[in-house]
Amino acid sequence: YEEKVIQLIVKIILIKVNKTPIDVAKHPLGINPRVDDLMKLVNIWANDVRVVAIQGMGGIGKTTLARALYNRIFSKFEGSSFVSNIKEVSRQPNGLVSLQNQLLHEALKGKVQPVSNSSQGTSVIKQRIHSKRVLVVLDDVDHIEQLNALVRPTWLSAGSRIILTTRYEHVLNVYGLKEHEIYRPSELNREESIQLFSFHAFGKDQPIEGFVGLTEKVVSATGGVPLALEVVGSSLFGKRSGQEWNDTLEKLKKVPPLDVQQTLRISYDGLDNLEKSIFLDTACFLSGTDRDTAIQMWKGCGFFPTIAIKVLMHKSLLKISEDDKLEMHDLLRDMGRQIVQEECPPNPGKRSRLWFQKDALHVLKGLK
Ligand SMILES: Nc1ncnc2c1ncn2[C@@H]1O[C@H](COP(=O)(O)OP(=O)(O)OP(=O)(O)O)[C@@H](O)[C@H]1O
Ligand SMILES: [Mg+2]
Repeated sequence: YEEKVIQLIVKIILIKVNKTPIDVAKHPLGINPRVDDLMKLVNIWANDVRVVAIQGMGGIGKTTLARALYNRIFSKFEGSSFVSNIKEVSRQPNGLVSLQNQLLHEALKGKVQPVSNSSQGTSVIKQRIHSKRVLVVLDDVDHIEQLNALVRPTWLSAGSRIILTTRYEHVLNVYGLKEHEIYRPSELNREESIQLFSFHAFGKDQPIEGFVGLTEKVVSATGGVPLALEVVGSSLFGKRSGQEWNDTLEKLKKVPPLDVQQTLRISYDGLDNLEKSIFLDTACFLSGTDRDTAIQMWKGCGFFPTIAIKVLMHKSLLKISEDDKLEMHDLLRDMGRQIVQEECPPNPGKRSRLWFQKDALHVLKGLK
């Protein structure tokens, strides 16, 4: 009984402070030692303002680490905000403004009116944010503008921290970060890779009988990038014939080392036509859309998407968020868009899907 009361109190407090830990990964592996390393760089007890960057290739686990780090330390700050998907959102109309509003709302716990343009956003953030010791995570930064619009270390009060994740070296120069302020996650080691792969291929942390040798071979051909292990592992879930495994192995051997996109492509190539269509539609314009809305749309096109969606989820090519929206990892989304672009590189009008406003306008004008 006491335990239930305590759980209830904890829940009420979390609702009151409007904070719950964020989801890290389906089968997290090797997270704690990496977060321990990051904690040393972040040093939350030092009374200066610090910036720590997590930099590395796509799919290596930067966002996952930033989430785990955030969960571990957010409660030590007076305000905190985890701003996700900055690269993608900032390219949408009014994207930067919506990111600014998210940052303001979360860091100041709702005690602020939304802003309507980005220069107003920047000045409100400057004025208001230094009143609190804050933790700001900027996930997937690819452009200086995003940092200038959202937060600069000089705007913050003592003890605050900025954590950013990026694929790109040039972003690190903007804040003038020194080597000891940059964390570059390593690939998973052999043991961790086998465990992560096995979770997705067999539903447990080691290969089932008869698949130990094949697993070792496939894992070593896949490499230690978590996203690749997840997608390749999931593509072999339920496949119990050695032939299917050997086919995958042959295809993996043709992929240049660390070319994650080519690795992911193997799983895409194994889909049927309907599954491919659903994947490409989501990559090009439906990521972030409500699942039911997307299903209605596909049904309107004469598709029966429910089973295809399930297949894509099983293959880790698509996720459904807690609030029931279609979600796709940014590398998978980029791969999908590239596949469409390759249908006819010089002429957008001959591609099956258009997602850039500029391309769409260009094609529509040409039709007149
Ligand atoms: N340590 C880990 N254990 C288990 N799964 C992991 C781990 N790290 C990452 N993953 C999984 O791998 C995938 C890629 O990770 P993540 O999104 O963090 O990569 P990223 O470096 O942020 O990529 P990008 O540059 O595209 O943003 C995710 O699905 C995540 O759940
Ligand atoms: Mg990321």
